[in-house]
Amino acid sequence: MLIRNIKQLVGVETLSQPKASGADMAALTCIDDAFLLIEDGLIADFGTMAHAPHDDTPAIDATGRMVFPSFCDSHTHLVYAGSREIEYMDKIRGLSYEEIARRGGGILNSVKRLHDTGEDELYRQALARTAEIIATGTGAVEIKSGYGLCVADELKILRVIRRLKETTPLTIRATFLGAHAVPEEYAGRQSDYVDTVINEMLPPIAAEELADYVDVFCERGFFTVEDTERILMAALKYGMGVKVHANQLSRSGGIQAGVKYGAVSVDHLDFTGAEEIACLMDTDTMPVLLPGSNFFLSLPYPPARAMIDAGLPVALASNYNPGSAPSGDMRFVVSLACIQMRMTPEEAIRAATLNGACAMGLSETHGSIARGKTASVFITKPLPSLEFIPYAFTSPIVETVILNGIIIS
Ligand code: NIG
Repeated sequence: MLIRNIKQLVGVETLSQPKASGADMAALTCIDDAFLLIEDGLIADFGTMAHAPHDDTPAIDATGRMVFPSFCDSHTHLVYAGSREIEYMDKIRGLSYEEIARRGGGILNSVKRLHDTGEDELYRQALARTAEIIATGTGAVEIKSGYGLCVADELKILRVIRRLKETTPLTIRATFLGAHAVPEEYAGRQSDYVDTVINEMLPPIAAEELADYVDVFCERGFFTVEDTERILMAALKYGMGVKVHANQLSRSGGIQAGVKYGAVSVDHLDFTGAEEIACLMDTDTMPVLLPGSNFFLSLPYPPARAMIDAGLPVALASNYNPGSAPSGDMRFVVSLACIQMRMTPEEAIRAATLNGACAMGLSETHGSIARGKTASVFITKPLPSLEFIPYAFTSPIVETVILNGIIIS
């Protein structure tokens, strides 16, 4: 397949790199008046139209349109049952996320709903959400468990994620988040629950190879640094990668714990100061920011500018979940990053593509336009400029979705 007359081919790499950091985040390479050649599901070639192949390869004319690497959304909880708009009303009336959680709402509310929902119905609901994110330009996504909190229900979610891997064109990474909240029956016995996560949940998950990563919500009112370290150590023994929900509501020590255990990413980082930035410098741990939750919960945004100016990489993800971000629209995330965190459009796009891929161990195959990478791209509607994308934040931009070299819509 040949895409011809592309107004701008965005996110091109000739020398492949696993991530972009600091000032390099703004170096988003684009080719004007370009072609893109796709063969066997991979990017075979690209360049200016002057060098386009002249043969009978089936061609798409992209006059006036841009072509982007698909968004790589490295943090979602999109397998959940039902929705929680009642809590949204509580938020409007002034209750905080933590107050709602203390009243038995929040994560534990979704846990009850998921328990009462069969695997097929859970799959059906999650499948609809994957269709939604595909249509808005996402091609690779990480999905967490964490609304089960018992062996059977955590396995149920992870099996649904496996089914999504098998039946959708998305590239999916699965993460086990048994330590998302302490279930009611373990109230006051948090360390017993951590034992259950380590001794009863991890072994069958490892045996069935249901998770690529293990994550912990390291936060005041949820799991301590000590709990986090115990779970990360156990995960590493099973050969799984690790991630940490860190510093969402306080300076929890989660960033330091993640770096110490070689986490592929630490996520949220709303409370990040000079000490945490210094700790992340020169590590392989990707800082992942989730501005959709800051928007939805009306909380201060993480200090993206300070992080990038210090030389760190930053990835952006949607955090698609029923409690703090009921949206998987990565383009809206890019808009928020620009206007609320003062990232430039170029930085935000790299954060949502190459660095997102890196945060789920996929940057060799996803996240940029490079020869040999998976041909997962989207063609925009006719657009005036790159900046129009974050600027016109509700205008639909995606016209054609191509995943693994196949036109999806
Ligand atoms: O990333 N922080 C923990 N987990 C989700 C919220 C999940 C929920 O409220 O259902 C988050 O914001």
